[in-house]
Amino acid sequence: HSATTPRVAAFDDWIRNRFIDLNSELEDLYEAQENRSQVAGVGDDLKQVLVDEGRELIVDLLEEGNTDEGFDRAFELLGNVGYYMAACRRHDITEPSRERTSPLAEASALAMHLGASLGTVPRFVSSHMETYNRSINGRYRTFTWRPAEKIFLDYNTRSALAYMRAADALGRIHPMGLSHPAANDLLVDARNALDDVLRLNTELADRLDVDEFFFCVRPYYKPYRVGSQEYRGANAGDFAAFNQVDMLLGLCLPTEAQYTQIVIEKIPYLTPDEQRRLHDSFRHPNLLDSLLEQREHAGEAWFRENAQAYLEVCAAHGAAAAHHHDELVARFITAPSTGIPPEFLEGITASGPPLDVLLRALEGLRDRRLAAPRDDIPTRHDDLVELRSLIAAP
Ligand code: HEM
Repeated sequence: HSATTPRVAAFDDWIRNRFIDLNSELEDLYEAQENRSQVAGVGDDLKQVLVDEGRELIVDLLEEGNTDEGFDRAFELLGNVGYYMAACRRHDITEPSRERTSPLAEASALAMHLGASLGTVPRFVSSHMETYNRSINGRYRTFTWRPAEKIFLDYNTRSALAYMRAADALGRIHPMGLSHPAANDLLVDARNALDDVLRLNTELADRLDVDEFFFCVRPYYKPYRVGSQEYRGANAGDFAAFNQVDMLLGLCLPTEAQYTQIVIEKIPYLTPDEQRRLHDSFRHPNLLDSLLEQREHAGEAWFRENAQAYLEVCAAHGAAAAHHHDELVARFITAPSTGIPPEFLEGITASGPPLDVLLRALEGLRDRRLAAPRDDIPTRHDDLVELRSLIAAP
């Protein structure tokens, strides 16, 4: 710990060790019950220790005040406060519908100070678990020692990075134009990256235990209050690249209200650099329109090769999106939800709407990415048919 204060380091050390022990002990207690969803009234002494030890360290940090150690350290500290607040929510120490303001007053004050200074929501977000989760001697921050949590995060992080590679490659094409000799390399890079996504997500689905994920991992990602404001939960999809790929390919349109609504909602949950990337992708032209506008060159080699490569990128994006919906969401959320008493199902989704409403929205996203034929939502099905016919052998 070089560039940091002893109080920041003490809290970080607590989060990376003692905090994980306490959460893991509580998970063992919940698991030992007939109904694993029953959390209230279980392990109350451990819960009190968790609240008190965390608060003591946080009070020290509030006293110390603003020490401005740069983005990475401040964002890491916001993550640590957020881990503490999210664990309190998981253990039913706080519960947003029961309260009008968070009982974790000191943690809320510190989180709001950090969020306001960084330009993000004042809660822990996915980047705290993934691309900004600093590893020390091979171990990054987790809530518990359960293997399922590490499996989930290892793969999520690698899959998010693969999406970022695809977005980066696609985002470099429009300034040069699709007929540029380098465009084909970029399309192939994007396709390879999206193939990596599908491979990683498939491995994740094979290795992740459904019950462990449902009962011991996801509950830490629920909504909670910071001060009086409730913030939605952490979502594996809270990074820009996925939507950059949607919009750069032209499969989802930045002028379509239903899609834009979903994207706008996530912006404050991203790091500022990711926020900027997402803003940019609303201004950039899309590759499908660009190809169709140049249809008079359909007989040229560059057009045939790049339209073909473009179609392969779309197929890879669609395949990964379909796997996310039809395998990951179906097996790890929908299926286990059916075995849970309804009063324990509240807050099952990160964003809050009832599961069936969420599933319909996610299905719409999948079908846009697949360019599936639908008459109720806009998809690029007909445009892809035209593109294929333009390059079909005469
Ligand atoms: C959204 C489930 C892994 C990318 C969602 C949502 C659910 C979900 C339920 C809707 C969010 C909400 O609650 O409002 C899962 C499950 C996973 C998993 C069960 C694994 C067990 C991943 C991975 C990625 C990913 C590995 C890619 C890195 C996304 C994206 C969204 C999303 C981009 C935003 C919605 C969209 O644009 O389609 N996921 N997810 N997910 N997930 Fe996952």
